[in-house]
Amino acid sequence: MQNSTTIGFIGAGNMAYALISGLINNGLNAQNIKLSDTDAALLSLRANEFNLEVFTDNTALASQCDIIVFAVKPQILSVVCKELQAHIDHKPLMISIAAGVRATDINRWLGGDSAIVRSMPNTPALLGKGATGMMANDAVNDEQKALAEQILGAVSQCLWVEDEKMIDAVTALSGSGPAYFFLMIESMAKAGVALGLDEKTAEQLSIQTALGASMMASNGEDSAHELRAKVTSPNGTTQAAIESFQDQNFEMIVSHAMRAAFDRARKMGTELGDDD
Ligand SMILES: NC(=O)c1ccc[n+]([C@@H]2O[C@H](COP(=O)([O-])OP(=O)(O)OC[C@H]3O[C@@H](n4cnc5c(N)ncnc54)[C@H](OP(=O)(O)O)[C@@H]3O)[C@@H](O)[C@H]2O)c1
Repeated sequence: MQNSTTIGFIGAGNMAYALISGLINNGLNAQNIKLSDTDAALLSLRANEFNLEVFTDNTALASQCDIIVFAVKPQILSVVCKELQAHIDHKPLMISIAAGVRATDINRWLGGDSAIVRSMPNTPALLGKGATGMMANDAVNDEQKALAEQILGAVSQCLWVEDEKMIDAVTALSGSGPAYFFLMIESMAKAGVALGLDEKTAEQLSIQTALGASMMASNGEDSAHELRAKVTSPNGTTQAAIESFQDQNFEMIVSHAMRAAFDRARKMGTELGDDD
């Protein structure tokens, strides 16, 4: 990122905090970051921690930035975009992290001529371990795509999709996905207790197993399928458990759950875009 590129965050909450921390940890100068929010006390906290310029007026921030990151709740994004319309003649790149809000709606609210990257990060981004799906509208050039990737890349692994509709699939997979793993951790711990372990032991074994398995899957040497085959000895304990999962149609259960999330994401996109 060039030293002169200025990034403005609108919304100083959890995600903005994670992204700003990530960018500064990656060596970006705090002078290149500006932050606005309606909460003056929160701004003052952030200004003290990061030594950056803060605003209670989003339009003042927007007029000074090359990139604007929308880090407000989805329900208020339309109001925030509409107030910027008269302050973006310099054509900043707009990056939205707001769940569910479509780039076409953001563009319409901004006046119809903006370069927009819509992204769907997930909760582990708060620890710098997120997974983010991203799409760019036709007005975004390659240099801007690289900049957006550097910003979201400060807290997550970034993957691009071509078609905005695929952001709903990203939402169903990685957006809501952390909760699926939490459910698995919770269920395994409960089952461990039913088998006689004390609660604390069962919970710790469950969490550490999820962490270890995830690290093995992410080191890239073997696929998840190959790893599973390697740890499933014929006639062994793992095979007994996997067969039980398959008898209950585990893959179909996961597939139905993700379809439900996908359908809900599509519906939310329509609802959030219906501002008239
Ligand atoms: N947290 C996650 O893990 C996660 C994951 C994926 C995507 N996201 C998306 O990231 C976005 C931000 O989430 P978050 O968890 O960071 O939310 P958050 O902690 O609630 O932060 C949003 C901030 O925006 C402020 N705000 C409200 N109205 C504003 C306005 N008109 N102008 C400027 N700032 C305003 C809020 O102030 P008040 O509190 O006073 O209203 C709050 O400080 C959301 O759209 C969410 O969908 C979050």
